[in-house]
Amino acid sequence: MPSTMPVRALWYSGGRLHLIDQRKLPGRKVILQLSKVEQVAEAIRTLTVRGAPAIGVAAAFGMVLAARGGRSSRFAAKLLGSTRPTAVDLFVGIDTVRGVWDRGGDPLAAAEGYRERIVEQCHQIGEAGASLFERRPRVLTHCNAGALATVEWGTSLAPLRVARGRGAPIFVWVDETRPLLQGSRLTAWELREEGIPHAVIADNAGGYFMRAGEVDAVIVGADRIARNGDVANKIGTYEKAVVARENHLPFYVAAPWSTFDVRRSTGRAIPVEERAEGEVLEFAGHRTAPSGSRARNPAFDVTPARYVTAFITPGGVVRPAGLARALRSRPEDARGQGSW
Ligand code: MRU
Repeated sequence: MPSTMPVRALWYSGGRLHLIDQRKLPGRKVILQLSKVEQVAEAIRTLTVRGAPAIGVAAAFGMVLAARGGRSSRFAAKLLGSTRPTAVDLFVGIDTVRGVWDRGGDPLAAAEGYRERIVEQCHQIGEAGASLFERRPRVLTHCNAGALATVEWGTSLAPLRVARGRGAPIFVWVDETRPLLQGSRLTAWELREEGIPHAVIADNAGGYFMRAGEVDAVIVGADRIARNGDVANKIGTYEKAVVARENHLPFYVAAPWSTFDVRRSTGRAIPVEERAEGEVLEFAGHRTAPSGSRARNPAFDVTPARYVTAFITPGGVVRPAGLARALRSRPEDARGQGSW
């Protein structure tokens, strides 16, 4: 499918993985060119590339660079798989290429096929979910689940993009998303690039606007969804879901098939990444907490399935009660190899 999107997070050409350095946005748009699997692992670890589907695709191309650099598939899978624990897409991307490579196939063709399926599924999410927002156009989102997080289209932003293309007066409330500001730095940047009206709000302002009647719906992406529909996503998502329920607002979760982990029966089995204290104790490189104060910094939380109004999947809009059936009927090539 030719790209019509103004934002593309990464691409492979000339034997190198090109990616937008997401740490530098919105100030500067810097494109990095990576030629070694070690560089890809470091880019994932440091959130130079981030967002569940995007790190899955980056890792898939990391496997390609490993093959070209004479590394073993075992070494590359272990290195890339040790970068971030929560997003299951990372492991699906690695295993998809490893399975082909270990059987003597072409890792590059496998990685390109994987990227195309992710982009196509995000587009399908957009088409499947758009009508939900035509009559509920003022939408709150948390973190960045746009093109930067998925290569193109996004998950949570895809239905909003499609609805806007159909003429809906979409307005996006963008949670800033402490501590790394994926909302104010990245989601707002994507929306600004496309001219989609939006306002950045402090993380703790969502409840105020919901209660004031200025929000029609909430939509987020996901890093891993357990078999029962519990959703791991950026820290703070759980609070938005609870406050949405309190205010009788629908709470939607948009995700490609690679984000569903049928091997975890509930969210309790999902590993949650805990990142460095400095991300909380400092702001833009300056210490804001007293010296000697400690911090905790879980990067994700788990929202119980009972708060999810519906999942927006490539196969359509699915209520939590229908999730098991939808997962059974997803395409064979969307199931992953399963070594995680
Ligand atoms: O730590 P990050 O920035 O990688 O976290 C990303 C998120 O939590 C996104 O909401 C999630 O990956 C969905 S991306 C389509």
